[in-house]
Amino acid sequence: MKPIGQMQAPDPRNVEHWRADFPILGERVHGRPLVYLDNGATTQKPASVIYAENAYYRHSNANVHRGVHLLSQRATEAFEAARAKIARFINAQRPDEIVFVRGTTEAINLVAQSFARPQLKPGDEILISAMEHHSNIVPWQMVCEQTGAVLKVVPIDDTGALDAGAYERLLTDHTRLVAITHLANALGSINPVELIVAAAHAKGAPVLLDGAQAISHLPVDVRALDCDFYAFSGHKVYGPTGIGVLYAKAALLEAMPPWQGGGDMIHSVTFEKTEYNAIPWKFEAGTPNIAGAIALGTALDYVDGIGMEVIAAHEAGLLAYATDALQAIPGLRLIGTARDKASILSFVLDDVHAHDVGTILDHHGVAVRAGHHCAMPVMQRFGVPATVRASLALYNTREDIDALIEGLGRVREVFGS
Ligand code: ALA
Repeated sequence: MKPIGQMQAPDPRNVEHWRADFPILGERVHGRPLVYLDNGATTQKPASVIYAENAYYRHSNANVHRGVHLLSQRATEAFEAARAKIARFINAQRPDEIVFVRGTTEAINLVAQSFARPQLKPGDEILISAMEHHSNIVPWQMVCEQTGAVLKVVPIDDTGALDAGAYERLLTDHTRLVAITHLANALGSINPVELIVAAAHAKGAPVLLDGAQAISHLPVDVRALDCDFYAFSGHKVYGPTGIGVLYAKAALLEAMPPWQGGGDMIHSVTFEKTEYNAIPWKFEAGTPNIAGAIALGTALDYVDGIGMEVIAAHEAGLLAYATDALQAIPGLRLIGTARDKASILSFVLDDVHAHDVGTILDHHGVAVRAGHHCAMPVMQRFGVPATVRASLALYNTREDIDALIEGLGRVREVFGS
């Protein structure tokens, strides 16, 4: 991956073209044009993605892998073509390393229950970090309770960056799995994942990367990263909700038992014995989100059409602009100032509660997230109950940041701060 600084400079005219692809950006909220800065929670969808879902239901809707009729064949081909597209997008070696799930949360739970649980013994260790989303904490706490394994947490420094020295020290011969975010949702910190993977592998521990945020901000190459598992959600990368991906190295998937039982994950069933299907279908019990998978493929086509490196460079420019503007506001404290950071800006403003800031911004047309961002331990680490989070996407502009700053001026007027 090229460092962001060396990436191709974006053509600024393109941002307006990209914006025109997202119908919802024409909405007005509270009588004002929508300024959507809650992309960390979910991204908006280009017309091509909305069209793909619609077209599937209009022309191809049928169940996959089950029918001899034409529509079923069409649905199956489109569904499996989406899988192959996703494999190419993250540079997996083979499409069967892509398991369709509901989202990042389900992907991590699948790994916890199918990969970790059968092999964990009391005293074994799972290593996570202090910047994780609840989805990359709770499944590991559950599996530790079930097996007697121990959850260890790598601390972060005051900028929100991983303490790399502590990580090396916490990796031991007892570490059975490292599960760490690629890009922290509440802080924006980008983790040195190549180093994390190399150090874990040197200890014989596999690595799961939570890519929920990274997938829309950074080029992801699972083979270059050499991670063992990579999890992400479609809706964070301009695709639909309810569809996500677990990437896993084929040998690991082959060795893992199925997680859920049901239709499509079997070869044959008798009351005495069930033979399971090949990977990845062994992990896809029940009718999947077919339309969602196909539209996720369309979303990745859209991102590819612009180029992830172009998007990352555009967002890096906006991040610098927004950071300067926010830091110039008296009483505003940025939470998450790591040197390697993506376009997520968490902050607190004087002693005004984040929900009040979020509500006033909403009335100004600016959508942000306010709260703990499903990362309560991060809030505790920084001694705040909640933050306001502006999280950017490819369609955001400097004018959007200006609207945020103007809205924060309104907050200060209301609260007399
Ligand atoms: N994980 C999502 C967020 O960070 C919901 O907002």
